[in-house]
Amino acid sequence: MYPTLQVNDFAAPARERMTAMAWEYLDSGAGDELTLAENRQAFDRIQLLPNVLRDVSQIDTSVSFLEQRYAHPILLAPVAYHKLFHPQGEIETAQGAVWADATYCVSTMANLTIEEIAKEVPEARLWYQLYVQRDRECTKELIARVERAGAKALIITVDTPVLGNRVRETRAGFALPAGLERAMLRDVPEAQKVTGHGTDLDGIYYPLVNPAMTWKDIEWMLGVAKIPVLLKGILHPKDAEQAVHVGVHGLIVSNHGARNLDTAPATIEMLPEVAHAVDDRIPVLFDGGIRRGTDILKALAAGATAVLIGRPYIWGLTVSGAAGVNRIVDLLLTELKIAMALCGRPNIPALDRSLLRHPSR
Ligand code: FNR
Ligand code: LAC
Repeated sequence: MYPTLQVNDFAAPARERMTAMAWEYLDSGAGDELTLAENRQAFDRIQLLPNVLRDVSQIDTSVSFLEQRYAHPILLAPVAYHKLFHPQGEIETAQGAVWADATYCVSTMANLTIEEIAKEVPEARLWYQLYVQRDRECTKELIARVERAGAKALIITVDTPVLGNRVRETRAGFALPAGLERAMLRDVPEAQKVTGHGTDLDGIYYPLVNPAMTWKDIEWMLGVAKIPVLLKGILHPKDAEQAVHVGVHGLIVSNHGARNLDTAPATIEMLPEVAHAVDDRIPVLFDGGIRRGTDILKALAAGATAVLIGRPYIWGLTVSGAAGVNRIVDLLLTELKIAMALCGRPNIPALDRSLLRHPSR
């Protein structure tokens, strides 16, 4: 019924196949959703200025970082609660990631444990996203568990000491439906009490993230973890410098898909300054608003090492499970290759800022 020739074509059929509550949870941003709109508009304001007459008969999308080679620079961002969107939940996502040759970052708020996912889809390349818990022993145990389960990297989300005021999510009465759990937090007593994202239990705070976390905790976790540690949710160039200084292995420029601090700048706006501050010392990953291959090209040209996508692959998951996840990555990758060819850049290292024009500046 729907032609699905571009990523955005998946949004409407996905919406039809999920509950209104799940849609509001997925789609919404915080506050007036100014940052949500800006994550897109900032991409659209950038123009691509191509070069011609360069041999683009072979396009190579591979990238290397953290001592790994990746066939392409697209990863699946951590997104909570995949069983809201598909009965098999995270297993289906992991299978789609395998078909798409993409790394899948499993959320602390997944409906299945990383052990369950890794057992069902042993070929999956998994990273784990950690919401640092208030109890250090619990955090330590989570890190040890995910390492045993084969996670290749640990993403610490640092932009969420509290959750943003998500008006549409709250108005829709967002709560975990009966039968869905936060599987990784089965042993955390608070996790059994909280069904929604309401902060009524503790003022503005959410019981399942630690609002007291500081750089000292990051240093502690760097001592605990045996796998590379990336910080997710960096926007300020000074924080990026501090991240390099304490010794993290990578960072992710992100505003949490505009779900936390409204009126924060678009991620693509901050990427050049963050990349400049990092100065190639560690990989700089990027997410927020990617819906086109040209968006990926712009992020890579502005200094990103690789990119993550969030909502789009959930649309794919909802519409047709693993095949849908694979299709979303494939659509973006095809568009990226077309854009690279049209820009006269046969490989990712050849992407540079000279391709980017900001007509309004
Ligand atoms: C998220 N995101 C997120 N991030 C994180 O670190 N842990 C999490 O559990 C979640 N959960 C989550 C749920 C949903 C429904 C969404 C839409 C997002 C943020 C996510 O990793 C990523 O930063 C954004 O989704 C990127 O923006 P786009 O691609 O959705 O525009
Ligand atoms: C969210 C949290 C779970 O964005 O990260 O919904």
